[in-house]
Amino acid sequence: MINESMDLVARDQRYLWHPYTQMLTAPASLPIVRGEGVYLYTEDGRKILDGISSWWVNIHGHSHPRLNQALAKQAEELEHVLFAGCTHRPAVELAEALVSVLPTGLTRVFYSDNGSTAVEVALKMAFQYWQNLSESSRRTFITLHYAYHGDTVGAMSASEESVFAARFKPLLFDVQRVAAPYCYRCPIGLKRESCSIDCLGDLERRLHEEGRNVAAVMVEPMLQGAGGMIVWPKDFLKGVRELCDRHGTLMIADEVLTGFGRTGRMFACEHAGVTPDIICLSKALTAGYLPMGATATTEAIYESFLSEDRSQTFFHGHSFTANPLACAVALESLRLFREQPVLERVRALEKQLRGRLEPLRELQHVGDVRVIGGVGAVELLTNGDSEAASGYLDQIGPHLAAEFLRRGLLLRPLGNVVYFMPPYVISEAETDWAIDQIRDVLEKLSNRSLQ
Ligand SMILES: Cc1ncc(COP(=O)(O)O)c(C=O)c1O
Repeated sequence: MINESMDLVARDQRYLWHPYTQMLTAPASLPIVRGEGVYLYTEDGRKILDGISSWWVNIHGHSHPRLNQALAKQAEELEHVLFAGCTHRPAVELAEALVSVLPTGLTRVFYSDNGSTAVEVALKMAFQYWQNLSESSRRTFITLHYAYHGDTVGAMSASEESVFAARFKPLLFDVQRVAAPYCYRCPIGLKRESCSIDCLGDLERRLHEEGRNVAAVMVEPMLQGAGGMIVWPKDFLKGVRELCDRHGTLMIADEVLTGFGRTGRMFACEHAGVTPDIICLSKALTAGYLPMGATATTEAIYESFLSEDRSQTFFHGHSFTANPLACAVALESLRLFREQPVLERVRALEKQLRGRLEPLRELQHVGDVRVIGGVGAVELLTNGDSEAASGYLDQIGPHLAAEFLRRGLLLRPLGNVVYFMPPYVISEAETDWAIDQIRDVLEKLSNRSLQ
C-alpha cells in the first residue's frame, strides 16, 4: 500500500533498489523534486549544485526551456514507433546532424538505448564484420587497463577486471588487456616529461603476437572515466590509430563519456585528429534528457553487411531503438551547439579548473591533479604517502561525498579520486564556489589522517 503522506525517501526505501548502492549501509537517497540549470532541489528544500552532471549526462543544464519544448512538441506528434520497417523524421534528421559533426568518414548511425548497448553494438558489429569478410579468426578484442565500457555482459568483458565486474567473471568472454597511459602511475615507471609514449609498446607487442586474431582495439579516447579519470597524452591516441592501421584491425572509440564536448572538443578523437572505425555515443547525446545510444561506423563496415543472404543481417535491436522523443531532444541539443558558444564555454571552464585545481598539489594527501575540458580530478594518496592505488572501495569516497553534500555540492568520488564534472552552463562564480568547497574539505583532511 502506498501512503501518499509518507515522504519520498520512506516510500523509496519500501520498494526501490538503486544502482551501485549497498542498500544496507548507503545513506538515504536524495529526494530530488526539481532541477534548473546546474542546481537540483530536494523535497526538504535543499539546493544542491550538480557537480557530476547527473552521472556525466547533463551538458546544457537541467530542465532547459529549449529542450523541454522540443520534447513536448515531439510528444504531440509521435511518441514512439518500432524502428524495424519504419522510420521517422527525428531519427533521419538526427543521423544527418550526427554525421555532419562526427569525425570524417563515420557515415552510418545505428541507434540503441544507452552507453552499454552502444558498446555491445560496436563489439558485435566488429565481430560480424570480419565474418562477413571471411576472416573469422579475427575474434579477439584488445582493451585497456582501467577501462570501463558499461555493465552489460559484453561491455563488462571489455572493461578492467575491477570490483564492478569481478563477481561476474565466469560469465564474461576473454579479452586481451594492455597498458593504459596512466602517467601518474606509469605502467613502465617512466616520467611523461621525458618519455616517448613507450607504454604503447604493450599494444604493439600484443597486436604483433595476436596477429590476425584481433577483431578490434577498443579505447576510451583521452579520458578513461570510471577507471579513475585518467587523462591521456594525445600521442597515445594517435599511436592507437596508427597501430590499428599497421596491423589491419579495427579501432573502436568509446566516446560515451567524452562525446559532445566534455573534453573541450566535440569528440575526444579530434584531439589527435583520428577517425575510429566505430564510435560509441550516449550520455550527452540527448543532453542528459533521455536514455539513448548510437554507434556510428564507416560505409566499408556497413557495406560488408549487405547481402542477398538474409542470415548476414546485423541481428541486433531494442524495442525503443531510435525513440522519437530522444531523437528530438538530441537534435535540439545539437542546435544549441550550433547557435551558442558551447565548446568555448567548456574551454573557459577547462582554463578555470586548471588554474584553481593545480595549486591543490601542495596539499599533503594530493597525489595528482588532472584536467581535460570540463573535467577536473584530484587523486588522493590514502595509503600513507605511497602511490599504491586505493581503488573504488576506498572508504574516503563516501566520507568525502557526505561532506560535500552537507555543503550543497553533489560529488561522487571514485574511491580516492575526487572529480568535478558540472554541466557546461556553470558560471565562473559557481565553479569558484565548488572548488572552494573541494579545497576546503581537502585542506581539512590534510590536517589529519585520512583513514
Ligand atoms: C566510457 C563509457 N562507456 C560506457 C558506459 C556505459 O554507459 P551506460 O551507463 O549508459 O550504460 C559508460 C558509463 O559511465 C562510460 O563511461
